[in-house]
Amino acid sequence: MATGTGNTAFVLAPYVRRVVGVDMTREMLEEARRIASEKGILNADWVIGDAQRLPFMDETFDIYVVRAAPHHFSDLDGFLAEAFRVLKPGRDAALIDCAPPLPAREVLHAIELRRDPSHILYLTVDEWVVRIERAGFEVEMAQARELDWNYEEWMANQAVPPELAAKLAMIIESTQGEARVQLHPERREGKLWHAYWHALIRAHKPSS
Ligand SMILES: C[S@@+](CC[C@H](N)C(=O)[O-])C[C@H]1O[C@@H](n2cnc3c(N)ncnc32)[C@H](O)[C@@H]1O
Repeated sequence: MATGTGNTAFVLAPYVRRVVGVDMTREMLEEARRIASEKGILNADWVIGDAQRLPFMDETFDIYVVRAAPHHFSDLDGFLAEAFRVLKPGRDAALIDCAPPLPAREVLHAIELRRDPSHILYLTVDEWVVRIERAGFEVEMAQARELDWNYEEWMANQAVPPELAAKLAMIIESTQGEARVQLHPERREGKLWHAYWHALIRAHKPSS
């Protein structure tokens, strides 16, 4: 789901009969299709669709995977309801998204809002668990993984203008209190590094 240029779909493809990559952005899927053909991946389909209103029948899929995208969705409950609906009973969904703990979340959220107009919200792992269970899933595993984050590389990959990147770096470096302890910003050879977090969640759709 929200496959972008197909990164996760390409990893899954060797293990499944067919993989369906869904995204709402046509250009992303065109690139995914191009890369799939370059890699010789023949069992992938690419479908334009909104994670919050999927163009699939109930109980279609054996596995549902979404990575690095739910923070762009305006209706998280709608997205989870759709994930639950299209998954077959007794099967699993994997959700991976950025999930900083509070209060660091507020700092990174403020940065994302200024860097990326399509950013909506990061949930913490605990907030994810509440939402996912409310959608009908049983959460089998939910953990945050802390990452050592190279700030300059992040901004360069996202083509953030250098003046804006410098202003946003100041927000991280001037953070105080518990958020600072969590983010532990530091300069290594002049380059800013800080903590970042991903949530890794496995959720089960009960059989009945
Ligand atoms: C940061 S990219 C992540 C791409 C991919 N999952 C990955 O890990 O490489 C986010 C993707 O979410 C897509 N997206 C955003 N909102 C969406 C929605 N409501 N339904 C489907 N795709 C959406 C965007 O078009 C974009 O390709």
